[in-house]
Amino acid sequence: MMKIAIDGTAASGKGTLARKLADKYGFVHLDTGLLYRKVAKELIKQNKNSSESLKEYDYEIAKDLDFLELRKEDLRTEEIAKLASLIATQSKLREILDLKQKQFVDESKNKFSGCILDGRDIGTKILPNADFKFFIDASVEIRAKRRLLEKNISFLHENDEKCMLQSLIKEMKARDSLDSTRVVAPLVPAKDAHFIDTSLISADELLLKVVKIIEGK
Ligand code: C5P
Repeated sequence: MMKIAIDGTAASGKGTLARKLADKYGFVHLDTGLLYRKVAKELIKQNKNSSESLKEYDYEIAKDLDFLELRKEDLRTEEIAKLASLIATQSKLREILDLKQKQFVDESKNKFSGCILDGRDIGTKILPNADFKFFIDASVEIRAKRRLLEKNISFLHENDEKCMLQSLIKEMKARDSLDSTRVVAPLVPAKDAHFIDTSLISADELLLKVVKIIEGK
């Protein structure tokens, strides 16, 4: 089975790329950020998101995670992302989720000719022997603009839009910093990853670049 690892910063385009590649080649795709988000969402739902109770409960939630449920829910809020990033610093939680991701790949072997995982530590930790590794990034301003567009809000005032953009930039910088400076599995490009900056290219141009690399053109 061909394995493709895609890592990168939030809203860099890595998720869209993973989905497009999976469609193109008929590979299975796992957005690993959703695992962390799902644990975070459950903690919020159960009111267990205070710093004292985090560790006590997130392991239990992680152990029972159902991959099929992940797509159904709206896990895309900034509140969930922030807590996901916080709990993602815990090594025990990461061990549980690492195992789940590896199981997912193992179970997909008989059903698919390839798998694509996207996240923060795929090329370095989950699929160190991946056939292809990509690290996707873009300037924080561009990434925040993309997130704002995804939200599909029509602003009454230009100032409101500016304000929201500034707050997204601040949140993204904080999350990038926590993700890249944590001790366990920090967000760093694997040594053998292809690094692509998407600040000035579209999702289709990114796909084209990556397909050229995969197909050796
Ligand atoms: O990719 P997404 O924004 O959904 O990820 C949410 C958070 O989950 C990230 O900020 C990161 O802290 C954590 N994460 C991780 N390792 C992964 C995927 C996500 O630490 N493989």
